[in-house]
Amino acid sequence: MSTDDRSESTPPPAELRQMLQLLNGFRVTQALYVAAKLGLADILKGGPQPLEALAATTGANADALYRVLRVLASIGVFEEISARQFALTPLAALLQQDLPYGVRAQALFFGDEPYRACGGLYDSVMTGANAYERVFGAPHFEYLAQHPDQNEIFNQAMSASSRQAATAIAGAYDFTAARTVVDIAGGQGMLIAAILRANPELRGVLFDQPHVVAGASPLLEAAGIADRCELVSGNFFASVPTGDTYTLRHILHDWDDEHAIAILRSCAEEMAPGGRTLVIESVIEPGNDPSPAKFLDLMMFVMNGGRERTAEEYRRLFVAAGLRLTRIIPTGGAESLIEGERA
Ligand SMILES: C[S@@+](CC[C@H](N)C(=O)[O-])C[C@H]1O[C@@H](n2cnc3c(N)ncnc32)[C@H](O)[C@@H]1O
Repeated sequence: MSTDDRSESTPPPAELRQMLQLLNGFRVTQALYVAAKLGLADILKGGPQPLEALAATTGANADALYRVLRVLASIGVFEEISARQFALTPLAALLQQDLPYGVRAQALFFGDEPYRACGGLYDSVMTGANAYERVFGAPHFEYLAQHPDQNEIFNQAMSASSRQAATAIAGAYDFTAARTVVDIAGGQGMLIAAILRANPELRGVLFDQPHVVAGASPLLEAAGIADRCELVSGNFFASVPTGDTYTLRHILHDWDDEHAIAILRSCAEEMAPGGRTLVIESVIEPGNDPSPAKFLDLMMFVMNGGRERTAEEYRRLFVAAGLRLTRIIPTGGAESLIEGERA
């Protein structure tokens, strides 16, 4: 018996199935992207529909749409309740628009720019350079400033991610000593709105780039805090508005150490005496435990050349920016509040 014959008769290892499933990840991301883009979860919220009706409403090719839905139904997203008739499932329902914890905006974002940038991960690993710039021809935030449609998708995805975390963040920190919270690069205001709603005496400043804060008013008004929140646009590498408490959620992770220190230094310089800087990020723990932060870290790498960090790495950034890390407060979710004061 040749070696080849022997290997053919050996049963596959138990892990083979799991490994093949892992290799499927790219197909899952794209199938979810298509479902989100076609708005299938919103169409099905009134009840199950036959494939032909879904295809007619979305303008999709019926056979191709069936194959996407069949794959999604095989992993619990939608259900084929009878031949070519589809219904929502609890997982699929999260793809509806404007849900408090919905993921439609994230599915639309992940399936587009991050998906394409992740396709360059191999080159990024070999060179250490982020893939986004090579794929899109400009750094991420510059590209967004020039592409209003992508900017809109990105802002909505950030608002969705903030909304998923904001209540836990606002509840995890005692803001009673604060007078003015400045949310640095706060997107369109989801986090500052949650903090101001939870603290009726507090005033807020939402600070971000001009093309981002331009679309923030509807969210602040809907939250009923627009009269307590000033909108300021600018560049955090140049200067930030004055305040006594700075929040920076998912900001430092976009940048390498040099830029992250510059952002923190802008805050340290403007911070009122006795003020606090609150960096809100996932802190990477040592060991092999699963953590969404480890995946986010790869995304930050290929998108911006940024990174998720350990507690020690945050401590070093704070010191380099003239701050002292005072404590790390878990929110109960994936993120922690990393508190600093002037050194
Ligand atoms: C990952 S998003 C986080 C948004 C928000 N903090 C959140 O948690 O949803 C990063 C933000 O940084 C902003 N940003 C990027 N470069 C900036 C700069 N130079 N000055 C001010 N804001 C900037 C972007 O416009 C974007 O809103």
